[in-house]
Amino acid sequence: MDEQKDILILAIESSCDETAAAVVKNGREVLSNIISSQIAVHTLYGGVVPEIASRKHIEAIDGVIAQALLEANVTMDEIDAIGVTYGPGLVGALLVGLAEAKAIAFATNKPLVGVHHIEGHISSNYIENKDFEPPYMSLVVSGGHSHLVMVSDYGKYEILGRTRDDAAGEAYDKVARAIGMGYPGGPKVDQAAKLGNPEAIHFPRVYLEEDSYDFSFSGLKSAVLNYVNKQKMMNEHIVPEDVAASFQEAVVEVLVNKTIKAAKANGVQKVSMAGGVASNSALRAKMQEACDKEGFVLSIPSPILCTDNAAMIGCAAYYEYIAGVRDGLDLNASPNLKLGDR
Ligand code: KG4
Ligand code: ZN
Repeated sequence: MDEQKDILILAIESSCDETAAAVVKNGREVLSNIISSQIAVHTLYGGVVPEIASRKHIEAIDGVIAQALLEANVTMDEIDAIGVTYGPGLVGALLVGLAEAKAIAFATNKPLVGVHHIEGHISSNYIENKDFEPPYMSLVVSGGHSHLVMVSDYGKYEILGRTRDDAAGEAYDKVARAIGMGYPGGPKVDQAAKLGNPEAIHFPRVYLEEDSYDFSFSGLKSAVLNYVNKQKMMNEHIVPEDVAASFQEAVVEVLVNKTIKAAKANGVQKVSMAGGVASNSALRAKMQEACDKEGFVLSIPSPILCTDNAAMIGCAAYYEYIAGVRDGLDLNASPNLKLGDR
């Protein structure tokens, strides 16, 4: 029967510093998930260099796609549609994946489905958690975003809160640099914090207005930098593990409390997390504790699906595809694309 035919999506992601391709079956079954990371080269510069990212994407993309098809054991003929991230992200980086996706769609006469990068992150929860479905509250925390999103249905998103300055991952990366941990800082701060005392230094918890679901991490970041500078000026010893643990405690407390409050206020008993910072061990543990206390279901992807990957793009593209979304070859990269803009 035609309705029961499997739908295979070839997905491509190149919005930042990972060149990724995946084959996803029926939205939730990942047949392959290839990620070529550029972290080693950007580490030399202490952060992502956009021009280098674009060049590295060009070098890697053909091989990554070929590998994704090979591992999935499918031919291009069997693919039903091409899903691709078209924003937000670094424009030059996005253009590489998008040009590739458009070329494949044109050459093979297959439909093209553009995906919002954050929609991809949110959808990463459907991959391992087969019964997880909307409605739910999603906390999306990455290097570029900190969003609280009410997901009322597939493809239906309402952003309740966002960061007013630094994203959570950005704050992690900057604090890591200040205490000499290098790039990318998040995983290093996470590891160091396990050895530190979270109550050693009291850093501010920024909740903003009583009824706001927005976040602000620049004040916390400055408080950490001021603390480090003051200690240095006074020739006082710094315990990086304590700074990491105390900073992390402040970030995690606010993220967890705002997410639980938003879920309650919107009458949902399901919560999900996504994005690179969702792989943080303290955030995972504290969010689980809070959800257990409330009797909420919590979904968090495995760390490999939290950081940028194409499987999540294939998953999001599938739900867009079955809803009838098709993009033309005039689809352009949109570095500041807003969630829900279509
Ligand atoms: O989602 P992602 O891979 O890329 C963006 O779309 O931004 O997120 C990358 C961010 C970086 O800021 C990185 O430091 C942070 O996620 N990150 C973490 C951890 N792993 C990655 N932050 C805290 N704890 C971690 N374990
Ligand atoms: Zn991302």
